[in-house]
Amino acid sequence: MKTILITGCQGQLGRALNDFYASDPKVRLINTDVGELNITDREEVLRKVREMDPDIIINCAAHTQVDACETDQERAYQINAAGPYHLSLAANETDAVMVHISSDYVFDGTKEGPYVEGDPFHPQSVYGRTKLEGEELVRRTAKKYFVVRTEWLYGEGRNFVNTMLKLSESHEEVRVVNDQFGGPTSAEEVVKVIDLLCRSEQYGTYHASCDGVCSWAQFTEKIYELCGRTTRVIPVSTEEYAAPAKRPKNSVLKNQRLEERFGYHMPDWEDALKKYLTDRKLIVKEQ
Ligand SMILES: NC(=O)c1ccc[n+]([C@@H]2O[C@H](COP(=O)([O-])OP(=O)(O)OC[C@H]3O[C@@H](n4cnc5c(N)ncnc54)[C@H](OP(=O)(O)O)[C@@H]3O)[C@@H](O)[C@H]2O)c1
Repeated sequence: MKTILITGCQGQLGRALNDFYASDPKVRLINTDVGELNITDREEVLRKVREMDPDIIINCAAHTQVDACETDQERAYQINAAGPYHLSLAANETDAVMVHISSDYVFDGTKEGPYVEGDPFHPQSVYGRTKLEGEELVRRTAKKYFVVRTEWLYGEGRNFVNTMLKLSESHEEVRVVNDQFGGPTSAEEVVKVIDLLCRSEQYGTYHASCDGVCSWAQFTEKIYELCGRTTRVIPVSTEEYAAPAKRPKNSVLKNQRLEERFGYHMPDWEDALKKYLTDRKLIVKEQ
């Protein structure tokens, strides 16, 4: 029996982990969100984690509101950097494996071609900088860790897919950025990778994103096509959209280490999206 402590369990990834492990008799899940375990509170983290005595800590807690982080820098730092540091200290005390989730935003998006795990960092936003600090603190502190970088994540909860579907109920057209590229990634697929990694002792930093590339506008078009929505997608540039935080133009992550060390390939983003929509009975058109 393994005890897995999940932080930020109400978020997209936290919920997907719950779905995955719920029926596993060999896993005891301890679910926490900010009310049960506030990762910014070092003393609380050390005390409660000691009591919980987990074998694995999976940190799904984060400040993921990228634009809000620009004006909420201290909170972003506390949640995205100090939090994973506290959890790493606690993991060492209980000899647990620390799993921390990070982001494509640690890169600046100017590279030609996909980013691999060892590429140089150059975050462009407060969110990206605090996520990078979080990763670095985990790498420097935790004795046994996995840092799992993903991108364009969607699962149960507040996410791009649900937002665009909601917009289609009230809009004849939507303006969507067409010059940022990435691989939309289903939380369910990231959970499979976390499980695979945790069955090994090949600690380190990994990329985990679905295969293939599209822009946000192309992603939206595919969602609408699969769900039979007639809302038109109007492609716009990043400059036209003018969001407060700078986003990488190229967010594509290559899962080099997963493929080389485990021979594991994540599915194409379109296939994972079809599964997500089918599971929620949102799809009207199978291709
Ligand atoms: N979403 C993406 O597109 C994306 C892309 C790449 C990487 N990631 C990374 O993937 C991970 C999971 O993301 P997600 O989309 O599942 O996040 P999410 O849905 O925003 O969930 C994060 C959860 O953490 C909670 N939380 C916030 N502050 C906390 C604290 N101090 N202590 C404990 N819990 C706290 C949040 O509660 P509140 O909602 O009440 O704040 C929320 O329930 C994060 O590390 C994120 O940076 C996400």
